[in-house]
Amino acid sequence: MLPRIFQRLRHRLFGGDTSYDAGLENEAHFWRQALADGGKRWSPEAFRQRMDPEFAFPTHLQELVAASPAASRDPIRVLDVGAGPLTAVGFHWPGRKVALSAVDPLAETFDGILKDLQLTPPVRTQKAAGEDLLSVFPADSFDIVVCSNALDHSRDPLQCVRQMFAVTQPGGWVFLWHYRNEAEEEGYAGLHQWNLDEADGDMVLWNRKARHSCRVELGNQAVVDTRVDPQVSRAIVTRIQKRVV
Ligand SMILES: C[S@@+](CC[C@H](N)C(=O)[O-])C[C@H]1O[C@@H](n2cnc3c(N)ncnc32)[C@H](O)[C@@H]1O
Repeated sequence: MLPRIFQRLRHRLFGGDTSYDAGLENEAHFWRQALADGGKRWSPEAFRQRMDPEFAFPTHLQELVAASPAASRDPIRVLDVGAGPLTAVGFHWPGRKVALSAVDPLAETFDGILKDLQLTPPVRTQKAAGEDLLSVFPADSFDIVVCSNALDHSRDPLQCVRQMFAVTQPGGWVFLWHYRNEAEEEGYAGLHQWNLDEADGDMVLWNRKARHSCRVELGNQAVVDTRVDPQVSRAIVTRIQKRVV
């Protein structure tokens, strides 16, 4: 994601509008550039994969399905929160059916970008913020809820975690993948108002004013397990299983 490095450098050198709303505009601008020219300036491989109608449902999520009541359910209901214009979660699993929904608060803007670029995504992102999932989906309605590199772009990540947990079926999983402490890295500019980090297997959400523990906030119905991603520098993975009570 080279353009983001330039954005960061420009922000550090010249300053500019660091508000959350300006961050949303930058995000839309980033995706317009990223999807132009078949993703050449972003990642041709990611572009190809995300446009592929046979984009594979990943092994690490297959493993979560196997460890949940969805092991014997058809279709498996999956939600990608903060999906961007092209979800990074696959949906093709030979012998199984995956019903993938994708949401993002910028969905309408993304629709405009996709239309201008004459792109039809295999899964259309619908409009919803992570904080408001229950206004769009009933409680307990997904087997797996994924959020990748987006929770720390939201205004209220704790509310997002609560809502992701609420729309997860008992026995199902919330799967989170993020870079640790991005707000510190980005100087609390634009969308980066919160840091996510690992502490004794818990996931903590913190900034200069507050600190929240997912274990404390979600209580006994949640089993929270956060680890460093051994394959990606500075990344952490959190798996939260919703106990069947
Ligand atoms: C860095 S992109 C990641 C997109 C995608 N998950 C991926 O991995 O390519 C961050 C996304 O978070 C979205 N976002 C911002 N605020 C959000 C919120 N409150 N709830 C959910 N997503 C949000 C942005 O619109 C953007 O699409």
